[in-house]
Amino acid sequence: MSHHSENFAFTAPKPVSFVNGEVTLPVAGQGVVIFSPESKDASLEIMAPPSATDQDIYQFFWFHVTEFEASFYAAKTTWASDQDKLFTCKKGFDQYPNGPFWFSIDFENRLLKGGYGEPRAELALFSFDFKDGKLTEGNVGPILKPTEANDPAISRYKWLKELESVNLSTTAKLITVFKDPITVAAPMQVKDMNDITMGDVSNYSATVPANLPSVCQQLYENVGGRNFNLANINKDFDLNPNFNFAKAVQYSIDTKGMICNKIIQSKVDEFGDPDMVYLRITMGGNQGESPGIPYVMEIWPSGKRSPIHNHGGSEAIIKVLHGEIECKLFATLSKATPYTNLLSMEAAYEPNHFKTCHFTLNQVTYITPWLNQIHQLRNTNPVDACITIQCYGYPLSNDSHYEYFDWLNTDDHEIDQFYPDSDYSFNDFVLAIYAEYTENHPDQFKNSAPVSDIHLN
Ligand SMILES: [Fe+2]
Repeated sequence: MSHHSENFAFTAPKPVSFVNGEVTLPVAGQGVVIFSPESKDASLEIMAPPSATDQDIYQFFWFHVTEFEASFYAAKTTWASDQDKLFTCKKGFDQYPNGPFWFSIDFENRLLKGGYGEPRAELALFSFDFKDGKLTEGNVGPILKPTEANDPAISRYKWLKELESVNLSTTAKLITVFKDPITVAAPMQVKDMNDITMGDVSNYSATVPANLPSVCQQLYENVGGRNFNLANINKDFDLNPNFNFAKAVQYSIDTKGMICNKIIQSKVDEFGDPDMVYLRITMGGNQGESPGIPYVMEIWPSGKRSPIHNHGGSEAIIKVLHGEIECKLFATLSKATPYTNLLSMEAAYEPNHFKTCHFTLNQVTYITPWLNQIHQLRNTNPVDACITIQCYGYPLSNDSHYEYFDWLNTDDHEIDQFYPDSDYSFNDFVLAIYAEYTENHPDQFKNSAPVSDIHLN
């Protein structure tokens, strides 16, 4: 039985060599090569040695990114012609000049895959299965019984098991190489060891913090615990036990002239769309480890959303403290260049949305430099606000801290920069909301003493 962490699609990349177009795989027979096309003709190729029975028969595989298209060829010769083309799609250098494009090699499942954007199963453009030489659009696998011979020593795909490198054209820029191939969609939820179930593992619906990169693990340790919740605010701040923080925030949002309502009014133009507004309540200060302050309580009024944005390559943990949040994931933040003969302006500018998830109370999700990095959050509840905690940290290997989140301005299709700033500090916010709510609802607090009085008596 395979351990579920082995299916988790990313691991820290090992150092790789890139000499004269030859890219070494950290483990022979598997891995993901991630590259950006430097020009309008970038390609990656793999060649099997000639057949033992016929020295003229080769197996040649070619992932080719041109100005307008990404294509895959499989040939029995040492080069590919048009008739060997098994797949093509209209995603090329002009649409994705920075890529990334990726190619996954997977001996265990006898699969080759090509994709774009984040290296993940959901963004596979195609899967090529050696068993029948068949190409399927999108992601396939893992395959339970890949071929007649599983033992690599006798398999006719022994050459693939022994494959140590692939050739990347000099017109492509190698971004990185991952040790593990792309197999299944990455789990979106993080669960504590005591909460994860066999179903979660079997269906890839959740993972444990230990499977995440180290900064995500640290962040999870800080906010993932069961006492990190709104219910403890009264005790933490010695407030009247009748006080309900979420209810007070809702009142403050809904009532003209109140704190949250005023902040929202002052921010409606921040992203050029009155529905793109949320409050950022920061905890503590910036210690140089994250873009902005690492711990941010975000308040999402009903129907409001963020712009589509990335996270500056940082790692992050997001936990729902109240209500529910929708998370839409996007393949790239690149600004597309439309060509009238290729795509309509509208189609070319359409952001590459590929997945939507929902998270509710106490559920946790994550961001790594390679997964879930580009998203848009939205509170779809028609009435209630959503409150989340987001925490961010630069990966340990990152020494060029990028202080901004980039966001896609859907009006002019440009990428703008957003510095993650603060609307209020957490301590001040709690006390201000408490004062505001208790002053306006004296009846609710008539017969109860503050927590400290109860303890003292
Ligand atoms: Fe975000």
